[in-house]
Amino acid sequence: MSKRSRNVCQACGAVSGKWAGRCDACGAWNTIVEEVVPETAPKSTSADKGRALRGESLAGEAKQLQRLHSGIREFDVVTGGGLVPGSATLVGGEPGIGKSTLLLQVAGALASKNLPCTYVTGEEAADQVRHRAQRLGLGDAPVHLIAATNVSDILATIETGPAPAMVVIDSIQTMFVDGLDSAPGSVAQVRASAQALVAQAKRRGSALVLLGHVTKEGIIAGPRVLEHMVDTVLTFEGERGHTFRILRATKNRFGPADEIGVFTMTAAGLREEHNPSALFLSDHNTETSGTAVFAGVEGTRPVLVEIQALVAPSPLATPRRAVVGWDSARLAMVLAVLEARCGLAMAGRDVYLNVTGGLRISEPGADLAAAAALVSSLTGAPVPQGTILFGEIGLSGDVRAVAHSALRLKEAAKLGFKAAWTPPARGEAEDGGLDIVTIRQLSDLVDRFGAAEMDAQPSIPLRERKVR
Ligand code: TYD
Ligand code: MG
Repeated sequence: MSKRSRNVCQACGAVSGKWAGRCDACGAWNTIVEEVVPETAPKSTSADKGRALRGESLAGEAKQLQRLHSGIREFDVVTGGGLVPGSATLVGGEPGIGKSTLLLQVAGALASKNLPCTYVTGEEAADQVRHRAQRLGLGDAPVHLIAATNVSDILATIETGPAPAMVVIDSIQTMFVDGLDSAPGSVAQVRASAQALVAQAKRRGSALVLLGHVTKEGIIAGPRVLEHMVDTVLTFEGERGHTFRILRATKNRFGPADEIGVFTMTAAGLREEHNPSALFLSDHNTETSGTAVFAGVEGTRPVLVEIQALVAPSPLATPRRAVVGWDSARLAMVLAVLEARCGLAMAGRDVYLNVTGGLRISEPGADLAAAAALVSSLTGAPVPQGTILFGEIGLSGDVRAVAHSALRLKEAAKLGFKAAWTPPARGEAEDGGLDIVTIRQLSDLVDRFGAAEMDAQPSIPLRERKVR
């Protein structure tokens, strides 16, 4: 048989017949690499060659999950109460965000509780890891350290001796299996290495944690190709220049997804933040235009964040739209609704939107607060001090209720806020002790800033345009 090759996108794993500069599946550039197909022709499949299996019933007792409690609460909560033996977890994040630090701390914590942990480093020398452990105050933790990148060696090393409670692979992109013609970090290698490691962990009942780098460009074989192979996917996020780090569950077969854990990166490693609700608020006490406080909920926890906006006349034909910590498509939508439904001229203006503190907001409930920050910046009128906002904006300009409003209001009251601008309540209204201002339409919000009296409105509202 002659050697066959195929073209695989290193970002999303899509296979295509011919090479191209851009992947059709995910749109990434320069990610398609030619890989040799292993020469194992599939054997013919038929029922008489198979072996009949005994099916099982859904009823009956399920084994109680014995989880590994690290005692690092922010980590345990995100995993759904601790790692599950025999499960595979992928922790993805940009290089330098703190993945190695976090997992070394978790390994150290478990090992100190007499749960044997193996930490495999393929990126750093053993000495470097030891150095870091000392800095983290874990110099004495009985973590078993292996510096290796060959998966067969790693499997053999782990196989000798009792099964570890947890195995950390730092990082999956540095691992390789023999007899595969592609480089470490390619989709084929990442997949084959993960498969072998997951199989051993399942068989021996160790909790496997794979660390994987994701770059913004997705150049390296992304953890995305592994997501379906693992039970839990965690992402570790944060903005450069900020010390906050957020661990977020995006998939969890053993617990709730979307739960977050909050840490601060300090000189002595990651410190847990058990009360994150007020962390992302700046502590200035004066009213400034262009800012609004969003009462958010991440997983089950309320988190209040400040959203800042700057709307300024643009010298450019295509004005700038820059957003940090929020979805740029969402910003475009809110701007379009402000323009089309409220007659605010956004077209000739640069728009900057920041979520302070380095948190990334993913819930649509932030729409109203973002809109308030934008309108406030445009008009120069501040949102009244001590006010929080939440609500989702529809394309028709209506403001819709979001989940957990009672929780949001209660947390805001606890932090000393006095008023809330909210969508009409679904069902029974609760105020949590705040003065509630109901915003039914985005135009109600705009009216509160006196935008109607603004003179600078060069664009024609949509309804006055002729429709052909
Ligand atoms: P690291 O865990 O190596 O990131 P990753 O594994 O995700 O690539 O963390 C690297 C950064 O964290 C590095 O810039 C230094 C910083 N850091 C601290 O600030 N304090 C510490 O105690 C440690 C260990 C790292
Ligand atoms: Mg690392």
